[in-house]
Amino acid sequence: MSIAADEQEATAPESEPIPLVLSVNGVKRELAVESHESLAEVLRDRLNLRGTKIGCNSGECGACTVVLDGVAVCSCVTLACSVADTQITTVEGLATDGELHRLQQAFIEHGGFQCGFCTSGMIMSAYALLSQNDQPSEEEIRIALQGNVCRCTGYVQILQAVRAAVGSA
Ligand code: FES
Ligand code: FES
Repeated sequence: MSIAADEQEATAPESEPIPLVLSVNGVKRELAVESHESLAEVLRDRLNLRGTKIGCNSGECGACTVVLDGVAVCSCVTLACSVADTQITTVEGLATDGELHRLQQAFIEHGGFQCGFCTSGMIMSAYALLSQNDQPSEEEIRIALQGNVCRCTGYVQILQAVRAAVGSA
C-alpha cells in the first residue's frame, strides 16, 4: 500500500451506527449497529442472548443458527442491519411459562449433547423444521440438520431426540 493510501485509510471517517429495531423472541429491541455487524454478534454482545453460539463464523457449522420468519439461518453470516423486518427467534425464545419446548426436553431426555456447543443451533434447525412440518420423515429430519455440525455425540442421540420430539407432537 502506498503512503498516501495508508494515510487515507488511517483518516477515513468511521461509518455512522445504523439505528435499528429488531423483533427478537416477540420483543422489540431498539439499538444502533455498525453496518458490518453480524446478527450473531448483535444477539450475543449487544442483547446478551448468548445461547446463540459462534463456532466457525463463516456459515459452515450451524452453531449460530436462529430462525428468521420460520426459516433457519446462520446468524454469523447474516448482517444485523438486514433483518429489521423479520421475526427473530433464538433458543432463549422457545420455552413458554418456564416450560421447555418439547425439543429442548427431548434433547435432555435422549442425551442429545455432550459439550453443548452445537445444541442450540441443532435445536433451532429442528424447530424451524417442526414449525413448517410437524410430522417430518427421517429423511426430512436429516436434511434439516445437515448444516449443523457436532464434534461430540456422533449424531445418534441428536436424531433420537428430534424423533422423540416429533413423536410427542
Ligand atoms: S458460527 Fe455460524 S455457521 Fe458456524
Ligand atoms: S455436543 Fe459438543 S459439539 Fe455437539
